[in-house]
Amino acid sequence: MLKVKFHGHACFEISDGKNNLIIDPWLTGNPQADVKAEDIKTDYILVTHGHGDHFGDAIGIAKSNDAVIIAPFELATFCQHRGIEKVHPMHIGGGYNFDFGRVKLTNALHGGGYVEDNHIYYLGNPCGFIIEIGAKTIYHAGDTGLFGDMKLIGEMNSLDLALLPIGDNFVMGIDDAVKAVEFLKPVKTVPMHYNTFDLIKQDPEQFKNKVAGKSEVIIMNPGDEIEL
Ligand code: NI
Ligand code: MN
Repeated sequence: MLKVKFHGHACFEISDGKNNLIIDPWLTGNPQADVKAEDIKTDYILVTHGHGDHFGDAIGIAKSNDAVIIAPFELATFCQHRGIEKVHPMHIGGGYNFDFGRVKLTNALHGGGYVEDNHIYYLGNPCGFIIEIGAKTIYHAGDTGLFGDMKLIGEMNSLDLALLPIGDNFVMGIDDAVKAVEFLKPVKTVPMHYNTFDLIKQDPEQFKNKVAGKSEVIIMNPGDEIEL
């Protein structure tokens, strides 16, 4: 049994009962977060891109858990420069078989800069993740606009769950995310990256209605957990 827990914005934890993964662990300063970074117990930290609302607490959680950071090469290297020894750099189109299962990096149409002290560290291309764990396949799209190759992702993977941004402004809005569902054909879909702040205010019920049964849309609140 695979458990998927939502911590607000784009942060999800996945557990197969043995291995624990956390994706885009922005907890400190996340108004939606239901947990504190210091309470996270994990083996792997997957980060889609360098923006603060995704990279978030990755360094702190990696240090306190002695966990591995899986990220695009430039971002993984940046983590090394910040004192993280256990990094696993990857890049778009590449997959790797970890002890818990397989991770493949997908395209994502977005930026990847990390902002600190009036400086932007440009950390390469952002990505999405296709994660195969516990005989299930989960797609975390990261931050992205709609792109036609989502159709290819849907053709080449049998997705049990898609985690899709719907917030608009920085990422797909509702109508584009509905088209993404048509391309990806996931059994279940969880909308993310909305209502964290005013700029990305959206009604997830509207998304659910527009998907209209093409996938089972599950609206998760921070702290909610689903089983796959
Ligand atoms: Ni972003
Ligand atoms: Mn974001």
